[in-house]
Amino acid sequence: MKNYYDNEDFFTAYSRMSRSQKGLSGAGEWEQLQPLFPDLREKTILDLGCGYGWHCNYAAEQGAAEVLGIDLSEKMIAEAQKRHSRKNIHYEVGSITDYAYPPETFDLVFSNLALHYIADLDDIYAKVWQTLKPGGVFLFNMEHPTFTAGVRQEWVRNEAGEAKYWPVDDYFYPGEWETVFLGEAITKEHHTLTQILMGLLKIGFRLTAVEEVMPPERWREAMPDEMRRPMMLLVRAEKEEMQR
Ligand SMILES: C[S@@+](CC[C@H](N)C(=O)[O-])C[C@H]1O[C@@H](n2cnc3c(N)ncnc32)[C@H](O)[C@@H]1O
Repeated sequence: MKNYYDNEDFFTAYSRMSRSQKGLSGAGEWEQLQPLFPDLREKTILDLGCGYGWHCNYAAEQGAAEVLGIDLSEKMIAEAQKRHSRKNIHYEVGSITDYAYPPETFDLVFSNLALHYIADLDDIYAKVWQTLKPGGVFLFNMEHPTFTAGVRQEWVRNEAGEAKYWPVDDYFYPGEWETVFLGEAITKEHHTLTQILMGLLKIGFRLTAVEEVMPPERWREAMPDEMRRPMMLLVRAEKEEMQR
């Protein structure tokens, strides 16, 4: 399991991002993501790849009873404990793939920008299904397949450095994708849209939202290229009471 976020340079570069400095309001997806959360009062929440714990803290602020954030990176968990410590939030260093997923334990399983590091999404979907209570919600945001299949995840630029077009290649060959993120050569996992959505439906989830993230209107003038291809995909799925 590759753990880029414990690499000193990568972690430092991540700490300079708007989302790391400003939190949820500095994250381009937040305005679309926030309305997709269910009522969190008295609920138990699992956050997969919790990073600094912004969403764990949000869940606690919204009245959640217990929140568990897991993350592969010791540095991320240390930062989460420093920034977002509350008595009903627990953090654990561990992998999304290895967590025990105790049966029918959580009302919400949440994940923001971590699932594109996971090779076998179907395996995680099955584990999330197992750990959700009947009626529970699985809400996640991951990199959009148009973005993960982007060639080096970079625009083709003209001589003046302006973005000409976003190249997509090998779309129907899911798997490890080499890219550069925050100045480091890393790999992400590309999944097609069919895999992402059909994997949920096959397990029995009911899809209740699918949204492609657009930058908030107030950001568009400063980042017009972000309206030219989707970078993130929001999905909300429910484990209905009467199933299985
Ligand atoms: C882009 S950050 C997002 C952090 C947080 N969810 C947020 O939105 O602020 C991705 C996080 O996923 C974590 N991660 C990547 N692969 C993981 C895995 N296999 N298991 C657990 N965490 C993982 C990284 O350590 C990192 O903290």
